[in-house]
Amino acid sequence: AEPFVVGSKSFTAVAINTAAKAGQWIKTKLGDINRVDTKFSSQDLVTEVDKGSEKLIRNLILTHFPDHSILGEEGVAPGPEASAKALQAMSDEEYLWIVDPIDGTTNFVHGFPFYSVSIALAHRGEVIVGVVYDPTRDELFVAEKGKGAYRHGKKTEVSLEDQLSVSLVATGFPADRQGALVTNLKGVQALSPKVRNLRVAGSAALHLAYVAAGRLSGFWEIGLNSWDIAAGALLIQESGGQVTDTEGKPYNLAVRNVMATNGKIHAELGQELAAAEATGF
Ligand code: IPD
Ligand code: CA
Ligand code: CA
Ligand code: CA
Repeated sequence: AEPFVVGSKSFTAVAINTAAKAGQWIKTKLGDINRVDTKFSSQDLVTEVDKGSEKLIRNLILTHFPDHSILGEEGVAPGPEASAKALQAMSDEEYLWIVDPIDGTTNFVHGFPFYSVSIALAHRGEVIVGVVYDPTRDELFVAEKGKGAYRHGKKTEVSLEDQLSVSLVATGFPADRQGALVTNLKGVQALSPKVRNLRVAGSAALHLAYVAAGRLSGFWEIGLNSWDIAAGALLIQESGGQVTDTEGKPYNLAVRNVMATNGKIHAELGQELAAAEATGF
């Protein structure tokens, strides 16, 4: 059977409509947030808009596919352990939607216009549809396994840089201020002098979409979760790029330390990150 269609409803169409609806709703709430709560640490924020977006997404998906499973960030207990457990418990589901209702909550709370909605669909653990929507720019990135990746109907392709010295590379500062941040700072310190420049704009999903669209040469971050990466990873793979963990092992849903590039700088970035992690600074 055609894996992308059940009855007359295409998985991709539902993913697109859902991400767009959630994104447009989120945007109406910008600057109108009554309460900001913290989750795991004072850097780990959640608002009623994150929860509302997840609810909207859940309802829409279940309207179309009532027997599918959904793993959403705000439906999981906070903290890295709980996230990993939740994924593990669900990763064998036939159809699993993996949802980040707002990726870039800190930006959203501060009114910094760089946040997104990320929705992926995995079939028995393999991502087959990925959608990242940026409501600020009304930009929609869509990928279907084996069928390419698109930005508003136009195929996306990764960039051509083949050396770090001419590369624009992004990363993120994890909310976990202990292990993950320390590891990431080593990478930042090592990479800063080697790349053309670094960016840390605060939405992992959007950074990944930008790698797919050739706007960034690469991205890495330590300690992400499945919902930050799943949709963006497929976007990059379907745009000719490469996604692994920071040790170079192939991407799967459980990967938390992600390295995603145009493919041409992958080995060099990996070497630099490995060398950085081995140092004690
Ligand atoms: C966060 C963003 C941010 C990244 C953090 C993520 P959230 O997701 O992707 O860019 O640095 O590690 O947790 O919490 O805003 O969905
Ligand atoms: Ca969060
Ligand atoms: Ca996120
Ligand atoms: Ca989120």
